[in-house]
Amino acid sequence: MQYLIGPFQQVITMAGLSLRGPLSDEQLEIVSLAGIVVENDTIVEAGNFDRLMNSYPEAQLELLKGEYVAFPSMIDVHTHCCWAGSRAGDYAARTGGKSYLEIAATGGGIMDTVRKTRAATKEELAELTLERANTLFARGITTIEIKSGYGLSVDEELKLLEAIQKAGLLSPADLIPTCLAAHTIPTGFRGDERAYLHLMRTELLPEIKKRGLADRVDIFIEKGAFSVKAAREYLLKAKELGFDVVVHGDQFSSGTAKLAVELEAVSIDHLEAADEGEIAILAKGNVIPVALPGASLGLGEPFAPARKLLDAGTSLVIASDWNPGSAPMGNLVAQASILGMAQKLSMAEVWAALTFRAAAALGLSDRGRLEPGMKADFIIYSTNDYREVLYRQGELIPSYVFKNNILYNRALLNKI
Ligand code: NIG
Ligand code: FE
Repeated sequence: MQYLIGPFQQVITMAGLSLRGPLSDEQLEIVSLAGIVVENDTIVEAGNFDRLMNSYPEAQLELLKGEYVAFPSMIDVHTHCCWAGSRAGDYAARTGGKSYLEIAATGGGIMDTVRKTRAATKEELAELTLERANTLFARGITTIEIKSGYGLSVDEELKLLEAIQKAGLLSPADLIPTCLAAHTIPTGFRGDERAYLHLMRTELLPEIKKRGLADRVDIFIEKGAFSVKAAREYLLKAKELGFDVVVHGDQFSSGTAKLAVELEAVSIDHLEAADEGEIAILAKGNVIPVALPGASLGLGEPFAPARKLLDAGTSLVIASDWNPGSAPMGNLVAQASILGMAQKLSMAEVWAALTFRAAAALGLSDRGRLEPGMKADFIIYSTNDYREVLYRQGELIPSYVFKNNILYNRALLNKI
């Protein structure tokens, strides 16, 4: 069955834009008075609406009344959406002047969420994860990476990954799981990061592979979490087992870019503390830098040097880092708009960071651009000017989301 959807005042295809380096708004392909032809969940063509009406007379018409702009759906490549409980107390302590690392050192922080998440059942976690994934979906984010990392034992990490898997079966969004057993050193292993990582790599990672629960492994490299040396050993083993690897790097202290490049990590996420030296190292490699403005906003820390990274020739992805500690807001578009303004990113650079460049950071080549043969994953805003979405800083939400061959209108989106 073929569908012709439209007309749109503008369709922003993201076609022809490079994976790395600066982009200007003039480079955006904007098809005006356009339609999108879809068949079997795949884009057949995006082009002039009247021409498509003539070229595809058999297509079922989905006529939209009003003025609309379509973009490829967004992709959030970094979330920790599988957790239980709140950390409002940590947040209040931070606004009161305590630092994230100080709070963690006194038993708050990640370990506080670990305790609350361990106390939840798999079913409860699946429900919480589903609710968050569907909230993102209704805002136009239809591919969502979700990390484990609040279990921190073999059984508890498996519980989280199974909860994510369950949520993925129930959500219209595509959920991409990542094992973050190396989130912090749990109580019981304090002072012995190698013993903990040894357990995870010998008992957990092979089990995850065997059960097909994740293809990606992440680690938090930081003072109070894991050292570069221990991370190298762990990630090498993960790679040997066939996992793609990513790192939480340069959040509070720099010095992880070299390892990320050496290990050909898919992405290095955070980079708030990345200096010129780190940027130069990343410019020479293929690791994709991921900025997490939600963590800067939740911690009162600087933003990642997104402008400098792009100017040095790297790629740039923006993700929400949605988690109960450092990034409790979870509104990706608001965060991307704010980062764009703070770092002077063009609208093209921000949209690239949320679409095809994000797809690349998850190793997905089938989405992120509205081109023939790509997945029919797109979002539709009620406006006649694409710039309105970032201008409204997260307040404008899509009127429709097209995913899995279904055109979700607002009523449907509010119900999922
Ligand atoms: O990406 N930095 C480490 N991990 C998360 C925070 C997790 C938490 O505080 O619960 C982050 O910021
Ligand atoms: Fe994170």
